[in-house]
Amino acid sequence: MSKILETIGISKTYHTSLVPAEALKDCTVSFEEGEFAAIVGMSGSGKTTLLRLLGTLDVPDTGDILLRGKSVLKLTDDELSALRRREIGIIYQDYSLFPEYTAYENIVMPFHLDGRKEDRAEIRDLMDVLGISHCRNHFPNEMSGGEQQRTAIARALSAHPAVILADEPTGNLDAKNSAEVVQLMKKASQLYRQTIIMVTHDRTAAEYADRIITIHDGVVHA
Ligand SMILES: Nc1ncnc2c1ncn2[C@@H]1O[C@H](COP(=O)(O)OP(=O)(O)OP(=O)(O)O)[C@@H](O)[C@H]1O
Ligand SMILES: [Mg+2]
Repeated sequence: MSKILETIGISKTYHTSLVPAEALKDCTVSFEEGEFAAIVGMSGSGKTTLLRLLGTLDVPDTGDILLRGKSVLKLTDDELSALRRREIGIIYQDYSLFPEYTAYENIVMPFHLDGRKEDRAEIRDLMDVLGISHCRNHFPNEMSGGEQQRTAIARALSAHPAVILADEPTGNLDAKNSAEVVQLMKKASQLYRQTIIMVTHDRTAAEYADRIITIHDGVVHA
């Protein structure tokens, strides 16, 4: 196996409030190609912070982040947006669907932004498996939280990025749907050799992972 993504001694402190929040402290962790890793930890422990840094949505105060051995901190804005369209798919904690687009349009958005044509049959199958076929032409405000969540999952999976970062992808799902979604992600990681990094509170979901990484007060135990 080869390393695809790694952090070297990254730290992040937020200065938005009166008291600085040390969200991540000297974190060194690496992920292999095709690996399915779960990140667990209490609320406020730094899970979303780590995921945002891995996804190049934010930059660390210190340390480095390497994708295939190359620092992502040195990339230009254009290189970064190409990387986010092709290499890294993100399932956000709040789904982040575009409200003015339907479920289907949201799912194919990464393809269109990248000037690529989507595989319609594959997306139909994916929506079927995720149980959101009936939402194809629905706008996000016409879908339940769980349906929006599964649409965000379909969006991330359909583009087959090398790395998928998922922030509580089963947070809004019942036990049955949650197990199905995690199994689907595991299958995707095996089929397409995708690396999946999933933040979860759900112990059962974490058990599907090849490895469980724990964060406590901003300190990562890999
Ligand atoms: N934008 C921000 N400005 C200031 N502080 C922040 C910001 N984002 C996060 N924090 C703080 O950083 C710490 C880590 O937050 P983070 O969102 O990474 O936690 P989390 O593990 O994802 O929690 P949860 O399980 O509730 O989603 C917390 O103390 C939080 O209050
Ligand atoms: Mg979070």
